[in-house]
Amino acid sequence: MTDAAPKDPSAPAAPDARRLPHPASYPMLAGQPALVTGANSGIGKAVALGLARAGADVIINYVTDPQAAEEVAHEIERLGRRAIALQADVSKEDQVQAMFARAIEHFGTLHIVVSNAGLQRDAPFDKMTLDQWNTVIGVNLTGQFLCTREAVREFKRRGVDDAVSVAAGKILCMSSVHQEIPWAGHANYAASKGGVMLLMKSLAQEVAPYRIRVNSIAPGAIRTPINTQAWSTPEAYADLMTLVPYKRIGEPDDIAQAAVWLASDAADYVTGATLFVDGGMTLYPGFATGG
Ligand code: BGC
Repeated sequence: MTDAAPKDPSAPAAPDARRLPHPASYPMLAGQPALVTGANSGIGKAVALGLARAGADVIINYVTDPQAAEEVAHEIERLGRRAIALQADVSKEDQVQAMFARAIEHFGTLHIVVSNAGLQRDAPFDKMTLDQWNTVIGVNLTGQFLCTREAVREFKRRGVDDAVSVAAGKILCMSSVHQEIPWAGHANYAASKGGVMLLMKSLAQEVAPYRIRVNSIAPGAIRTPINTQAWSTPEAYADLMTLVPYKRIGEPDDIAQAAVWLASDAADYVTGATLFVDGGMTLYPGFATGG
């Protein structure tokens, strides 16, 4: 016998008493080398590990902190896959081209490219410097152009290899809920993600006949270094939860599992789509009680 009151089946689930989903563990991406930009931390690191768990060999791109990138590579090797860490600033054409050349030389080809690297340089609009604007657009939008262009070149060159996938290649663009949700104080970031949305869709339309699939993942609030201030104190976390109907912060693995599925042949008929992985952040949470 226990004193606990009977559980009210209609009550919302307790946010911190939930089990998180387990990642799929069969090798659906075996034989498909993947390049992930910004893979030495946060979402990129989780995606790199998730793809490796699903069977892929992985190129870990980073721009700073080579040691963190090497650690991700070692973790992937411990999973029984191959991995190399390659440095490149995704906003620089020559560096991106050199990275893809080395990656293709090393693994023979690429089947999956996750254009993930991104950053924020927040400021009130009238205080935003051109440098803050250009840095964010350079990495988050131009970086995605440069990386997806190299991916398309390689996928078109090789075509479909039926032994590993029914598609010639898969591109995942890391977008954000802020491709839809306006964000005061972050105009550069929101503009970059709005740009990613139509870059992704236009590219998806253009390369679909080559059996190249292009999709985006739009994460909501995920527990990573980019937004520490939004979750690292109880007050900030409570505040954040007013924006998340599902009442928990996202974990990097939530994104990794979406990436594995989108990159796999299980999602073969999906192209030009944005998969929101946001606990309902884009559902206008204010209207749950208002309106
Ligand atoms: C941003 C985070 C933010 C989240 C939800 C992401 O794209 O990088 O800083 O917490 O969107 O607003």
